[in-house]
Formats: sequence, C-alpha cells, structure tokens
Amino acid sequence: MISRWPIAAILIAALAEALAAPPNMVVKERVNVPSAWVRRGDANKADLISLSVALKPSNETAVYDRLDQTSDPDSDSYGSHLSREEVFELMSPSNSTRQSVDQWLSENDVQSYSTPSYSPAGDWVTFEVPVSVAHKMLGGADFGVFEHRSTGERVVRTTEYLLPRDLAPHIDFIGGTTYFSTARSLRIPGRMIKTEAVDSLLQTNILAAVGESSKPSSCNVSNVKLDCLRELYGTIDYTPSAPSKGHIGVAGFLEENANYEDLEKYLKDQRKDAYKGNATFDYVTLNGAQNNQNLSEATGEANLDIQTVVGVTWPIRTTYFDVGGRPPFLADENTKKNTNEPYAHLNNYLLNLTDDKIPQVLSISYGDDEQTVPEAYARRVCWQYAAMGLRGMSVLQASGDGGVGAEEGDVCVTNDKKAKKTFLQSFPSSCPYITVVGAVEHFAPEVVATYNLSGISSGAGFSRLFDRPSWQNKSVADYITMYLGTRYHGLYNPMGRAYPDVSAQGSLFSISVGGKFGRISGTSASTPLFASIVALLNDARLAENKTVLGYLNPLIYKKLGNTDAFNDIVNGSAVGCGVDGFPASKGWDAVTGFGTPNFKNLLKALP
Ligand SMILES: *[C@@H]1O[C@H](CO)[C@@H](O)[C@H](O)[C@H]1NC(C)=O
Ligand SMILES: *[C@@H]1O[C@H](CO)[C@@H](O)[C@H](O)[C@H]1NC(C)=O
Ligand SMILES: *[C@@H]1O[C@H](CO)[C@@H](O)[C@H](O)[C@H]1NC(C)=O
Ligand SMILES: *[C@@H]1O[C@H](CO)[C@@H](O)[C@H](O)[C@H]1NC(C)=O
Ligand SMILES: *[C@@H]1O[C@H](CO)[C@@H](O)[C@H](O)[C@H]1NC(C)=O
Ligand SMILES: *[C@@H]1O[C@H](CO)[C@@H](O)[C@H](O)[C@H]1NC(C)=O
Ligand SMILES: *[C@@H]1O[C@H](CO)[C@@H](O)[C@H](O)[C@H]1NC(C)=O
Ligand SMILES: *[C@@H]1O[C@H](CO)[C@@H](O)[C@H](O)[C@H]1NC(C)=O
Ligand SMILES: *[C@@H]1O[C@H](CO)[C@@H](O)[C@H](O)[C@H]1NC(C)=O
Ligand SMILES: *[C@@H]1O[C@H](CO)[C@@H](O)[C@H](O)[C@H]1NC(C)=O
Repeated sequence: MISRWPIAAILIAALAEALAAPPNMVVKERVNVPSAWVRRGDANKADLISLSVALKPSNETAVYDRLDQTSDPDSDSYGSHLSREEVFELMSPSNSTRQSVDQWLSENDVQSYSTPSYSPAGDWVTFEVPVSVAHKMLGGADFGVFEHRSTGERVVRTTEYLLPRDLAPHIDFIGGTTYFSTARSLRIPGRMIKTEAVDSLLQTNILAAVGESSKPSSCNVSNVKLDCLRELYGTIDYTPSAPSKGHIGVAGFLEENANYEDLEKYLKDQRKDAYKGNATFDYVTLNGAQNNQNLSEATGEANLDIQTVVGVTWPIRTTYFDVGGRPPFLADENTKKNTNEPYAHLNNYLLNLTDDKIPQVLSISYGDDEQTVPEAYARRVCWQYAAMGLRGMSVLQASGDGGVGAEEGDVCVTNDKKAKKTFLQSFPSSCPYITVVGAVEHFAPEVVATYNLSGISSGAGFSRLFDRPSWQNKSVADYITMYLGTRYHGLYNPMGRAYPDVSAQGSLFSISVGGKFGRISGTSASTPLFASIVALLNDARLAENKTVLGYLNPLIYKKLGNTDAFNDIVNGSAVGCGVDGFPASKGWDAVTGFGTPNFKNLLKALP
C-alpha cells in the first residue's frame, strides 16, 4: 500500500519538468494523483473530452454576505429567501470576465467541435474538444488515462494545466482536468452502507451491553422500522397540513435506481396509510441517467433514501434526482463511465428551478475524501450550496461511515509526497454551507453507530480546506478544550469547519431492495431521516404562511443546539484510523453534533 507513494511522486516530478511554461501562460492548478489512481498511458489525442470552465463571479463574497443575513435567526432578513434571478445576479461573472472567456474559446475555434453551453447564472461554460486541442489550450497539459486501482475504472485527466496570463484571473478552475473523484470512487455501496455481516454479530452479546429499558416498544435494535423511528423522534402523530407546498429531494449518483415496486412493498409493510394512499415520488434524470425500474437491478442507496423519505414525510412531494455519469462523447470503452462534476451538475440544475419546482430540502448520501477533491472545485461546489441556501434550501449531507477515517481498514495518510499520518475528512461534509448528519444506534440511550452493531462508524472530521465558521466557533473551541486537549494533535485541523452538526438513527433500517427486505446501516440512513424531519418542520411553517427554514446551521448553533430540541448523545466515539477518534460528549461534539432531533420541541423552538 505504502509503495503507491513513490510511484505518484516520480510521475509528478517528471511532469513538472516536462511542463516548462510557455510564454504568457501561468500554472493554474497542480494536484497530486490520489493514491487510488495510477497512470496507464497517454490519452488518445483524437478523443473528445468535456471541459467546464468555472468563471470567477464578479463579487466573490456577495453570496456569502447575503446568506449570513438571511440565515441568521437574529437578523431582520431571516428567512427572506431569494428568487432564482436574484441569486443568479449574485453569482454571475462580470461582463469583462465573460468576454475574456468567450474570446479564448473563439481563438481556439472551440465552436467547430461543440457549442459551448453556459450555465443559467453564466458562471460555468461547458464544451467538448479533442484531447489535442485541450492540450494546446491548457499550455501543454499532459492528459493521460488513469486507472482506479481497485475498481479498474478509467478516466482521462491531467495533474496540471496552464492558462494565458491575462485570462487566468477570470477563471477559478477548469473542470474535467484534475478532478479524480469519479462516480465510482465515491464508493458509496462500500462506504456509506453495509448490508451484510450484521446477523452473526447480533448473535453475540452486544445487545445486552446497552440498556434498552425506556425505548419505544416499536423499536427493535436489530431491525429498525418506520414506526420506531417516527415514535422515537416524535413525528408519528403529526399529519402534514400543507403537503402541496412542501417538496423534498433526494440526490442520486452512480446509476443508483429508486424502485417504485420496492417502495410499495416497503410502505405495505411499514406505512399502510401511505401504501393505501398510493404514495409515490417523482423521478428526474439528469446528465444521461436512466430511470431503470428493473427490480433485479435495484440498488441499496437509492431505495434506502427514497423509502425513508416517503415513509416519514408522506404525503409531501418527493423527487429523486438521478445524476448520470456517461458523457455521450467518449466512445472509448475504457472511459465510458467518466463522470466530471456530479455535484456541480446537480447544483446547477437545482439553482435553475423556479420556486414552485425547487425542493426546499435535499438529502445527499454520497461523499469522498476531501483531500482527493481539488481545492478550487471544492470551494466552487461549496459556494453553490451557499447559493442554494439563499434560495431557501436546506441541504443535508451524510458525515461518512468510517469515523475519523474513511472506511474500515483505511490507510490514514496525506495524499502527497510526505504521506503523513492524518485523519481523513470527507467532502462535501467539510463544506460549512450544508448540514451534516452523523449516525447513532440503540435507543435508550442512543449511542454513536459502531462497527460492532451497525457495521459502520459514524463519520466525523475537521476540514483542512474550510475555516471554522463563526457560528460554530464557540461550540467547537469548547469541545476541543474540554474533551480533546492535545489528543490527536497534528492528525486534524482544529481551526477547520467541524462536522457533523446533528445526528439521527442510522442502524439496521429494514428496507426493500429488489423485492426483498434487508437491513442497511449508515449515515446514508440517518441523513434522509433527518432531512425528512426538516421537511415536516417546513410543512408546519408553510401551513402558517411562514417561510421554509433554508440553510440551517446558524439557526442550529445559535438557537436550537444545547436545548431540548435535540437529544444529546454522550456515548461512543468516531472509531477509525486505528484509534477511538473524537468522543461523544455533553453538548456539541465532533461525532454526533448536537444530537438527534426531537420534532415537537424543534417545532416549539423555531423562530
Ligand atoms: C460585494 O457584495 C457585498 C455584499 O453583497 C458588498 O458589500 C460589497 O461592496 C461588494 N463588493 C464589490 C467589490 O462590489
Ligand atoms: C453586461 O452585458 C449585458 C448584456 O450584454 C448588458 O445588458 C449590461 O449592461 C452589461 N453590464 C455592464 C456593467 O456593462
Ligand atoms: C453512557 O455514558 C454515561 C455517562 O458517561 C454512562 O453513565 C453510561 O453508562 C453510558 N451508557 C452506555 C450504554 O454506554
Ligand atoms: C428483532 O428483530 C430480529 C431480526 O429481525 C428478530 O430476530 C427478533 O425476533 C426481533 N425481536 C423482537 C422482540 O421482535
Ligand atoms: C390508488 O390507486 C388505485 C388504483 O389505481 C385507485 O383505485 C385508488 O383510488 C387510489 N387511491 C387513492 C387514495 O388515490
Ligand atoms: C433485468 O436485470 C437482469 C439482471 O441484470 C437482467 O438479466 C434482465 O434481462 C433485466 N430485465 C429486463 C427486462 O431488462
Ligand atoms: C433553466 O430553466 C429554464 C426554464 O425556467 C429553461 O428554459 C432552461 O433551459 C434552463 N437552463 C438549463 C441550463 O437547464
Ligand atoms: C466492539 O467489539 C470489540 C470486540 O468484542 C470490543 O473490544 C470493542 O470494545 C467493541 N467496540 C465498541 C465501540 O463497542
Ligand atoms: C473564534 O473564537 C476565538 C477564541 O475564542 C476568537 O479569537 C475568534 O475571534 C473567534 N472567531 C470568530 C470568527 O468568531
Ligand atoms: C395563509 O395564507 C392564505 C392565503 O393568503 C390564507 O387563506 C390563510 O388563512 C393563511 N393562513 C394563516 C395560518 O395565516
């Protein structure tokens, strides 16, 4: 495993030498090849690749500044969400930026290969050109075919590219170049959910280890069903009263398919009223995704998400947004699964929806190691989440399933030549503009989800890219002082954005996949559950003609945290990287956030 590093290091040294900068061009971005990838050869010069230029917005802080106001419960503008056009205006590049980029595209005759397509806000332009043209446009960027060591997936990428000196300040980055995280490498089926290997564990005495005396009678620790979840968090006797106004979305990637028959089967088992009411969901396909209803190809993540959301929120409108990853231009067998920017693609799509179509809540159960995501890309996607907050969206993100690591048995080292020991934080969890959800198991008390029972360890971390935001400054500083001290010094960034923010049950949910019931654990389960509770809170507000909650974090940290709106979790820790990891504690902690939701108390506490 460790021998990967010298290989990557030699490659980068060779490239750096090869790329003596042409005159008037500057290096725009340079990355290390993530350790999971190896270069297999040069890209075919005639192959078309898709490039997406992220144009610099004319005012880089405008989105953040505005969101600070609309999301701060103490501000007069709290809840004053913006329209699509208002948000686009805040995101748009200046005319001179747009002109510089257009000029560059026409100088390189891009139009003769494909028509450049601008995003609605004008902040992205996407086009396809042959590798040979991209090579020239990007200062001799050396496009190679890289293969993922474990999945065998291949992508065309470069580790470095240049831009004309005059153009460079107008552009944040060029997508499709250095982004090695692909659909497959999000590796959710392995990382965020575990379906098997649980029953044998359940035979042992772990169940006896935790007192279960005061749990709801509907709760079975080894087989968690809807009645239990709805009773536990207090939504079971709540009937949505403005369902036609509410809307919750579920993000899907990796050709995960949400199946109607499976939903029916699940509801028949666990939510008879919704079953009788013909509960369903809308299926939106993006970027070449297919709505595949073949039951024998049904997949765990999509069905877990949809069943949980419809089960808890019915009859509120639910939409599954299935983002494909098969650009039609790459005929090559080896690159047909090449995905460029799955998150950015979905975000652009959602931002272009009008108020009547945009989901006010979005649940995302996908993620990747933060250090493998190029910084400029991560910042852009995070900025998009802020813009979505301005539209009134609450985005809920799974914290990951490997504690302070990424998954069980991970090598916890930095992705550079130094290969220094480090905890692994995930993206987009590390972005401050989304609300990150951890997972718990057991009921009385709820404890951090463990490998022993759930088969996962609830994800936790401190970003190395994003600074600690002011709204969590005190909670996190107090936690570090009281519970960490110098422990794990150097393995995490104590000044970074810390996550999760909240948590929910994420252990052994009983769901239907491919016509059969199975049990699935993960922050993949806790996230749609928490998102559903936010959708119910929105419903209560919409019924009173109040605005939806939108971006939640300032509200959670300033008003709701450390109150009875959350059940504080104090047992367990973010086991990973061969250590116990961050412990749960009284108040906010870096493994369960403020804890699990109490719906009734949340309703009372909302502004
Ligand atoms: C950017 O927007 C913020 C707030 O929206 C404003 O205060 C600031 O003056 C703007 N900056 C520029 C350079 O226009
Ligand atoms: C930018 O261009 C648009 C459309 O071409 C034009 O309407 C607008 O006035 C221009 N803005 C500035 C500041 O020049
Ligand atoms: C949880 O932690 C509390 C306080 O440290 C302790 O008293 C209790 O025994 C723990 N419960 C479990 C199930 O670990
Ligand atoms: C709990 O669920 C397990 C697994 O399905 C089952 O074997 C057990 O009988 C259930 N316990 C109760 C009390 O229903
Ligand atoms: C559900 O669908 C069935 C079959 O189409 C129909 O007969 C029934 O009236 C529907 N129920 C509701 C509550 O819409
Ligand atoms: C459904 O999927 C299975 C397994 O991939 C496949 O064998 C079968 O042909 C598919 N059925 C249809 C109708 O496409
Ligand atoms: C944005 O939405 C409008 C309709 O409101 C649609 O006409 C347009 O094609 C959309 N743009 C993109 C890039 O999806
Ligand atoms: C998990 O099980 C192992 C072996 O029984 C035990 O040593 C460990 O303490 C358990 N971990 C947790 C978090 O319960
Ligand atoms: C965070 O807290 C530290 C120490 O309490 C303080 O020095 C710093 O100014 C705070 N930062 C923000 C952004 O509030
Ligand atoms: C909400 O607004 C509608 C339409 O304006 C009105 O009919 C209704 O009475 C209002 N409801 C409340 C609770 O204010």
